[in-house]
Amino acid sequence: MDNISIVGIHVHIRSQVLDYDKLYKYYENVFGLAIFCKETMKWELEFINFGGGLGIVYSLLNDNPLNLDALSYECNSLISKFKEYLNVRLIIETGRFLVCESGQYVTHIVDIKESRGKKYLIVENGLNGFLRPSIVSLVDTYAHDDLNPKSYEPFFTTRDAFDFSIVGKDSSNIENVDLVGNLCAATDVMAKDIMLPKASVGDIVVVSRAGSYAYSLTPLLFTSHPLPLQFYLDSNGKILN
Ligand SMILES: Cc1ncc(COP(=O)(O)O)c(C=O)c1O
Repeated sequence: MDNISIVGIHVHIRSQVLDYDKLYKYYENVFGLAIFCKETMKWELEFINFGGGLGIVYSLLNDNPLNLDALSYECNSLISKFKEYLNVRLIIETGRFLVCESGQYVTHIVDIKESRGKKYLIVENGLNGFLRPSIVSLVDTYAHDDLNPKSYEPFFTTRDAFDFSIVGKDSSNIENVDLVGNLCAATDVMAKDIMLPKASVGDIVVVSRAGSYAYSLTPLLFTSHPLPLQFYLDSNGKILN
């Protein structure tokens, strides 16, 4: 390919890796690939992009946080081994790791109903506003087991992956509810059997860990409901344009 000049390589292991040693070995292999590109293929690389993959804790019960100190320690020795010889820019895409926990999904209760002894808090834009919590019921349906369900890239989620709260309500008067959307689809369930403060129509519901794989992964246009808005706040809580 005479008209193509290769200036870098880009590899991605997978998303949501919590074992620092896996990331370290992966980085080591990518450096090996870069050496092959330089020595065997004679390519003049300007950069190596290692992709993303740094995971966050979704499930307090099942996930152990990524040991960043250990990863950084191991990576420093890798970098000093290869950096001078390769003389390239090294890029890691921090994806979900940086932004997931800084975003929240906010919606409000449009109706409350009781059916067969169960209380349902019905919000505007459930599955079609923030899909990820509803994936749990989907995985449960397809997995048919009682284990904490795991889904795969880019849907990683667990039953306890999201915290739900109601603005301005304290936890002195809580009750068991299902938090659902209002689509004509049985999968429009954000959380089943959770304990929430007694709520009223109009109350605002906040869902955690919505800073990544949220707006971009949700079927926002499904049933033509109004789209959620995205706001970026600075460290003082001021909305940025
Ligand atoms: C090429 C590439 N880079 C980066 C990412 C981001 O991964 P994460 O947000 O899990 O770090 C992905 C996710 O699929 C990817 O495919």
